[in-house]
Amino acid sequence: MKHYSIAIDGPAGAGKSTIARKVAKHLNFIYVDTGAMYRAMALYFIHNNIEAKDKDGIEKACNNVDVSIEYKDNEQQILLNGENVNNLIRTEAVGNMASASSVYPVVRLKLAELQRSLAKKENVVMDGREIGTFVLPDADLKIFLTASSKERAKRRFLELKERGISADIDEIEKDITERDYRDMNREFAPLKQADDGILVDSSHMTIDEVVETIIKHFESIR
Ligand code: DC
Repeated sequence: MKHYSIAIDGPAGAGKSTIARKVAKHLNFIYVDTGAMYRAMALYFIHNNIEAKDKDGIEKACNNVDVSIEYKDNEQQILLNGENVNNLIRTEAVGNMASASSVYPVVRLKLAELQRSLAKKENVVMDGREIGTFVLPDADLKIFLTASSKERAKRRFLELKERGISADIDEIEKDITERDYRDMNREFAPLKQADDGILVDSSHMTIDEVVETIIKHFESIR
């Protein structure tokens, strides 16, 4: 049976998870948040005092980490060595560690394997950085979703505020810019638009407009 896959790649804070979740819901596909997997690995490194620059430590630790996902009420739950860590991975510290530790091929290959096995079994909307270029190069639709760094910082700031977390918007923008640079310039599977990817700049679009645009593209190729 044919399984469809939609890859949504783009920089931090472009709205990938919100959009991907909505597109998946509309099409009745599974939403796969790959950033959460990198964040779960990062949490393990933080808890075990392994620094991002400690390549050997990271490589060794990878043998002891098991990341898996399950769905509860349609929401992805991320399990780190069997423990649900959904509520522990959304901090800036974990995000920065995820970005820094995701440069290592050993980390990426481990998670790419899990991502590919999910796409084999289900219709998926998968968001990440290199889903269309590396994880699922044969995805049926590839979207590169972006927005200006100012707009992305504003969105992240409001999201944190809503969760009662105070933050400095300029600091967030600085973090975002640094993270973009690292994600786009790593040697192995960097963040970039796929040659056959469709660019969607959401800076001046509502969430619903972006969702509609992606669904239209999908309907045209289905
Ligand atoms: O999307 P996010 O903010 O949850 O991702 C956190 C970091 O994880 C991101 O800065 C880079 C890394 N990541 C990655 O390298 N590849 C992915 N497919 C998803 C995330």
